[in-house]
Amino acid sequence: MERLQKVIAKSGVTSRRKAEDLIKAGKVKVNGKVVNELGLKVTDKDLVEVNNMKIETEEKVYYIINKPAGCISAFSDDKDRRVVVDYLRSRGVQERVYPVGRLDYDTTGALILTNDGELANLLMHPRNEINKIYLVRCVGIVNSVGLAKLRKGIDLGSFKTAPAKVELVSVDKANNSSQVRITIHEGKYHQVKLMFEAISHPVKKLRREMYAFINVSGLKPGEFRRLKIHEVKQLYVLATYKEKKTNYRIRRY
Ligand code: URA
Repeated sequence: MERLQKVIAKSGVTSRRKAEDLIKAGKVKVNGKVVNELGLKVTDKDLVEVNNMKIETEEKVYYIINKPAGCISAFSDDKDRRVVVDYLRSRGVQERVYPVGRLDYDTTGALILTNDGELANLLMHPRNEINKIYLVRCVGIVNSVGLAKLRKGIDLGSFKTAPAKVELVSVDKANNSSQVRITIHEGKYHQVKLMFEAISHPVKKLRREMYAFINVSGLKPGEFRRLKIHEVKQLYVLATYKEKKTNYRIRRY
């Protein structure tokens, strides 16, 4: 049994606080009846509707996939292109899992999929600053000036990136390319590619090695595994750490 507002938030429809507002506003029904008290507890047998739309209350599942190149980070595609969820479906996963954030069509590596909308929203919220580590193969030999720019933060026009952690992994003079490992906590569209474009070293290959503390070791491209309970708990702790710290400060002073 769980509190109604928590069940709504977990379904991904909205945040817990907004779910409380919706309940108070009489927009939530349980088993066909409007509920406007916040304390009500429900089970997954109860039919919960928000704005007359049934919400999903299926068991929460969490996966990490080693996303291969040549597929879209999506649940489905209207042009019928291969999507990352196809890899799970073809192995019998029936829950409606969605990727947490997005990797480009040609980007490979760590991608979490879940039907837990609450965790997905927390992980993707910029305030929670979840680190993502990328291994970049780029054109040219990156020098200390380029690395310093990435470290300092780069003005991409509409957005200035936060300081990044950057390490030059190797240079390949024969092929005129470099390998750089970069850690960022933001997730703007094409962010890594734009950052390297801005220092005149376009990305040739991009792999996400790690999402938070989760990597894809032992998984071939297209392979996936379920996250362990302690990994899910740790993701929740990471993704709510700042929020808790802020609330604590507000309460104390
Ligand atoms: N940054 C990019 O440019 N592409 C990705 O797929 C992920 C991060």
